[in-house]
Amino acid sequence: MSAVAPKLAETIQEELWFGDEDPMRSQLEAQSSLAAAVGSALGLKPFPAVASRAMQLLSDPDVDFKAVEKVVGQDPALTTQLMRTANAAVFATTKSADTIHQAVMRLGSRQVYNLVAGLAAMGMFRDLRGLGAYVRDHCAGVAGVARALADSWGLQDGTRDLFLAALLHDVGKLLSLQVGEIDYHRFGREVISAPDAVHVKEREAVGYDHAVLGAHVLSGWRMPEIVVQAVALHHQPGRAYERDAQLGLNVTLIRLANRIDYKLQRNEPADDAFIAEVAQSGEGNYAGFDVTQLTAVWPQLVAARREVAGAFSKR
Ligand SMILES: [Fe+2]
Ligand SMILES: [Fe+2]
Repeated sequence: MSAVAPKLAETIQEELWFGDEDPMRSQLEAQSSLAAAVGSALGLKPFPAVASRAMQLLSDPDVDFKAVEKVVGQDPALTTQLMRTANAAVFATTKSADTIHQAVMRLGSRQVYNLVAGLAAMGMFRDLRGLGAYVRDHCAGVAGVARALADSWGLQDGTRDLFLAALLHDVGKLLSLQVGEIDYHRFGREVISAPDAVHVKEREAVGYDHAVLGAHVLSGWRMPEIVVQAVALHHQPGRAYERDAQLGLNVTLIRLANRIDYKLQRNEPADDAFIAEVAQSGEGNYAGFDVTQLTAVWPQLVAARREVAGAFSKR
């Protein structure tokens, strides 16, 4: 178990805890079960030191490019993947970047920080097969779709760290699969591939869900606060809206991308009824979507999903 695990595992952070009363289980019982899962997840998956150091350097307003290149260069696979992802069409750079320095100049240090953090986090799950690979693919797909939605609606300025939050939104499921307390196969394919269904079953099974588990582990990995909060609240949009507009918009886009990704993962063509349902949903209204525009950008969503899912499944 890592050095930080026991301390974090003892204290479940109130603001990340969903706090709903479950008549079947005492809150204390659920919290101690969550604390144990957070402790084992952090023990099983210590965050890579190279990425941690690079994230620290990239957070400095006077970023030292040479130092970033030197640190990231210690992990050649991370370097290759970082450059490939930084040049992805979804990031809409006009010229390709050949070095980390160029990537930072073109995308900004915050976006490169997001890519390093996301690649390092998802890289910890690259060996997963079956259900794990399906969830990992879904996470990457949601990141691509969320990014494309934000671009199409000109919402980039109102969303901070959206790509990273979307990429990590279901990391709790990946962690939970490894901790092994929940038998996901028991839930059936219908539940696994439906939005807003798995967390209910998880709470029934163990008293907490993947959103709250993921958020606590991401906090242990020192991820940005808005990412931690968006992950914690992605199945409780009302709480996100109450807290902060930027957080509310991040959660809205993650939830819309989540529904769209499940549709795309099934290789189903876009149908008018589905697009209308998404555009007219609570989230669709919140983000200001309309059916015509969503239909028009659909091919871009498909391309963004394919591109990001492809980039994150290779290493
Ligand atoms: Fe989720
Ligand atoms: Fe999801």
